[in-house]
Amino acid sequence: MSFPSAGQIAYSLLYSIAKGDVFGKDQPLVLVLLDITPMMTVLEGVVMELQDCALPLLREVIPTDKEEVAFKDLDVAILVGSMPRREGMERKDLLKANVKIFKSQGAALDKYAKKTVKVVVVGNPANTNCLIASKSAPSIPKENFSCLTRLDHNRAKSQIALKLGVTANDVKNVIIWGNHSSTQYPDVNHAKVNVKGKEVGVYEAIKDDSWLKGDFILTVQQRGAAVIKARKLSSAMSAAKAICDHVRDIWFGTPAGEFVSMGVISDGNSYGVPEDLLYSFPVVIKDKTWKFVEGLPINDFSREKMDLTAKELTEEKETAVEFLSSA
Ligand SMILES: NC(=O)c1ccc[n+]([C@@H]2O[C@H](COP(=O)([O-])OP(=O)(O)OC[C@H]3O[C@@H](n4cnc5c(N)ncnc54)[C@H](O)[C@@H]3O)[C@@H](O)[C@H]2O)c1
Repeated sequence: MSFPSAGQIAYSLLYSIAKGDVFGKDQPLVLVLLDITPMMTVLEGVVMELQDCALPLLREVIPTDKEEVAFKDLDVAILVGSMPRREGMERKDLLKANVKIFKSQGAALDKYAKKTVKVVVVGNPANTNCLIASKSAPSIPKENFSCLTRLDHNRAKSQIALKLGVTANDVKNVIIWGNHSSTQYPDVNHAKVNVKGKEVGVYEAIKDDSWLKGDFILTVQQRGAAVIKARKLSSAMSAAKAICDHVRDIWFGTPAGEFVSMGVISDGNSYGVPEDLLYSFPVVIKDKTWKFVEGLPINDFSREKMDLTAKELTEEKETAVEFLSSA
């Protein structure tokens, strides 16, 4: 049903998907695992482990290094593999390498996947990679493409929960606006928290505006870097959990009264974000279709931060599109 790869996120993700956490406990699954040719022996090991889990839902696991095999009649594509940033590599070089990968994968999705396929891009720079994949798959609706900002969303929820001594489940409707990068804007102006059975606004509950406008935002923006510094590896368990949350919400819809953050095409938004960007917005999902949450008032503080991350995405897009014709 979907296909991540042999990397560290995929290693956590595959078990959760295969045991039914995402598509439900009664949905049989065929997992197609795509990676590059040098990783095929590693992938064989992952296949063996999946088999050894003896999971009732797993009908077949197909490892491959061929896009035409990986994308054939696919329902859900989770694009986790991308070119990692190496030491000394310029951001432009990274973009160039990834444009090549996501152009190729987009074109293959266009050719081989179902037109209803849902495509979730995780590999960084996730927003721009997703935009490139979508542009390379003109016969698949743009709305079927989304990129992962749910990890940032979950990080924001958890920071609020930790501050108040409640659980993450008690916090809802945080928003991540913009790019999955350090310019992202975690916004809790519309978020609610359940404190002792009563639902209140996060600003009202925390009563510390300078923390909410300062350290809270910085902590969420820089959490990925903090995990790398501590673990010497980027977030994997939490990224896999966020992918599960993201895809499950696409499949089954968002709970009543709740919205989530997702990188989606900005066309037709009412928040003044330029069109044709893959920008993270608050969305609700029903019948496997997302909609922007409309009508949230935006204050000057938020406006400035939303514009800053839009500017970064516009620049990223311009560079990527330049490479697209030569990729
Ligand atoms: N959006 C997010 O919130 C978020 C969070 C964490 C990590 N990430 C990103 O997710 C990506 C994967 O992270 P990871 O820790 O699993 O990395 P990893 O290096 O452990 O795994 C990446 C895998 O992708 C494979 N790969 C490389 N090029 C490929 C291609 N063209 N086709 C298919 N597979 C290919 C690699 O061989 C490897 O197995 C990275 O780009 C990382 O920055 C995104």
